[in-house]
Amino acid sequence: MAGRRRQGIDPLKKAFVKSYGCQMNAYDAARMADVLGAEGYAATDQVEEADVVVLNTCHIREKAAEKVYSELGRLRVLKGERAEAGRDTRIVVAGCVAQAEGAEILSRAQGVDVVVGPQSYHRLPALLAASREKRVVDTDFPVEDKFDHLPARRNRGVTGFLTVQEGCDKFCAFCVVPYTRGAEVSRSVAAIRAEAEAMVAAGVREITLIGQNVNAYHGAGADGAPASLAGLMAELGRIPDLLRLRYTTSHPNDMAEDLIAAHGSDPLLMPYLHLPVQSGSDRVLKAMNRKHTGDHYRALIARIRAARPDIALSSDFIVGFPGETEAEFEETMRLVADIGFASAFSFKYSPRPGTPAAEREDAVPEAVKSERLARLQGLLDAQRHAFNAATVGKVVEVLVEKAGRHPGQVAGKTPHLQAVQFDAPLAAIGTLVPVRIVQSGSNSLFGERVADAARAA
Ligand code: SAH
Ligand code: SF4
Ligand code: F3S
Repeated sequence: MAGRRRQGIDPLKKAFVKSYGCQMNAYDAARMADVLGAEGYAATDQVEEADVVVLNTCHIREKAAEKVYSELGRLRVLKGERAEAGRDTRIVVAGCVAQAEGAEILSRAQGVDVVVGPQSYHRLPALLAASREKRVVDTDFPVEDKFDHLPARRNRGVTGFLTVQEGCDKFCAFCVVPYTRGAEVSRSVAAIRAEAEAMVAAGVREITLIGQNVNAYHGAGADGAPASLAGLMAELGRIPDLLRLRYTTSHPNDMAEDLIAAHGSDPLLMPYLHLPVQSGSDRVLKAMNRKHTGDHYRALIARIRAARPDIALSSDFIVGFPGETEAEFEETMRLVADIGFASAFSFKYSPRPGTPAAEREDAVPEAVKSERLARLQGLLDAQRHAFNAATVGKVVEVLVEKAGRHPGQVAGKTPHLQAVQFDAPLAAIGTLVPVRIVQSGSNSLFGERVADAARAA
């Protein structure tokens, strides 16, 4: 026991990490679990038994941010109960609410011990130690690179996220990300390749390269000159056993020529693109500071489809941006009808403190926003169902990720990112399997292995 303690390993310590918001946050949450793991904390999904609770928060819309405070209210009660039983609980608020609100969180939520921003979570062990003296806030954008100070990542599973770029310089009028995540920074090709190799060695077969503006990637290549996202993907394509690449999220204005071409030529790059357009109205796009028009987007999609005709498209939309008229909203509906999306996320505009759009006085009434959102989602749902239904009867390659819902079943994804369930032994996990799609459900496709279908015939 004494020997183990000397190594800093107390087998009783447990950490609960919960993430809200985007994939970047999910990646950060996993890395925070790695940091705590290196300190001897075992991961738990039972918050009651956790000695450290980390909420990795999202500030993108009011609802997301408010959720954190109700969760913190519950955690305060739990902390009190554990204290009565003689157990200490450290509560950490990380992520974008931490960055945006800093010390305000300490006054609004008693019970919080540490507030740490997305660029300083590698300092978590020191912050936890310091919090025994007094509550601490660290929302610096440190000069050191957190990636250089993180322990080796632990990988579970067949698919994984890999952060290649962080931050955003675009300043869309509605968005908090440039303030919570700071300026655009790209990691070097060598650092990303090393992390990707470790992921693949641990069994990962599909890597999604992530960044707030991932297609603005311009990290240093081997020769020191900046590499593009397409160049980075070509380099990663040399890793044996890596089967698939994806990337998200992109901005239309950063869809470089070589990236579009890669959709037609890179064998690992999957035919799926999440390319948020936000609105179909040029006046609204201008007010949003998106710096492109609806027709720019249409023309861009035409070029991408020329490179990869079967590409599945996805987007984000905001309805009820201040001043949006009924006619302007209908331009969004028209753009959706023109393009045809395989999936999409759509949101009611939510004013965010510190953003230019929040200052505007021409807010769209809540009821109007709700009505527009319902209409838009109706159209997007219909497009998604049609896209999935069109897969029925086709043979698609599925990367098997895990056991399925029922015994004997496995679950995986098509190149178009559709979830599929089919019968196969668990040994199929981590491999590509040709599957004939026989049915399209509301959240999943159902299929049969081509080998099985041939045998039955
Ligand atoms: N970097 C990505 C998106 C990050 S935020 C991009 O540029 O596309 C994810 C999505 O949340 C955005 O695309 C937008 O649709 C939505 N969003 C951002 N701020 C919002 C706000 N204030 N209200 C409603 N939705 C918002
Ligand atoms: Fe936000 Fe716009 Fe940057 Fe996307 S591009 S993160 S929406 S500011
Ligand atoms: Fe939310 Fe921050 Fe991501 S605000 S969407 S967690 S970058």
